Amino acid sequence: MKVLMVCLGNICRSPLAEGILRQLAADHKLDTIVDSCGTANYHVGEQPDPRSIKVAAANGIDISELSGRQFKVGDFDRFDIILALDQNNFSDILKMAHTDEAKNKVRLMLSYLPGVENKNVFDPYYGSKKDFEAVYHQLHEACSNFLKKELI
Ligand code: 4NP
Repeated sequence: MKVLMVCLGNICRSPLAEGILRQLAADHKLDTIVDSCGTANYHVGEQPDPRSIKVAAANGIDISELSGRQFKVGDFDRFDIILALDQNNFSDILKMAHTDEAKNKVRLMLSYLPGVENKNVFDPYYGSKKDFEAVYHQLHEACSNFLKKELI
């Protein structure tokens, strides 16, 4: 299974989601391919935000080698499931999907977090270290549920 995580800048949320799911898949000996990108091009070629690198490292995950890239229409062919980190990312990607097959690949990350009403992973870019920690924990829970539901 090939999974693509999508946020806005591909430096805060989606690189974390990528690192977390890759780690969880490896723990379960699954040969899942995980990648991430952003709907915007502001940070193409950049390393993840230092605060995301730090919170991942504190939890045993190295995302320091990842490099920002922008979502492209060809990603609909290259991936089986495309997980949008918030509703803006979700609708921006859907606008680029021209077939039902492509549209059906796009899901909201927090649709895998039952009981949570707000379906947007908070954008911590202008936030604090605490915000990055909260995002990490929310993503870990959602990715864990996603793995159990879709990958095992
Ligand atoms: P991300 O966070 O979408 O989680 O990577 C952001 C990163 C950069 C910007 C916005 C959100 N920005 O406006 O540059």
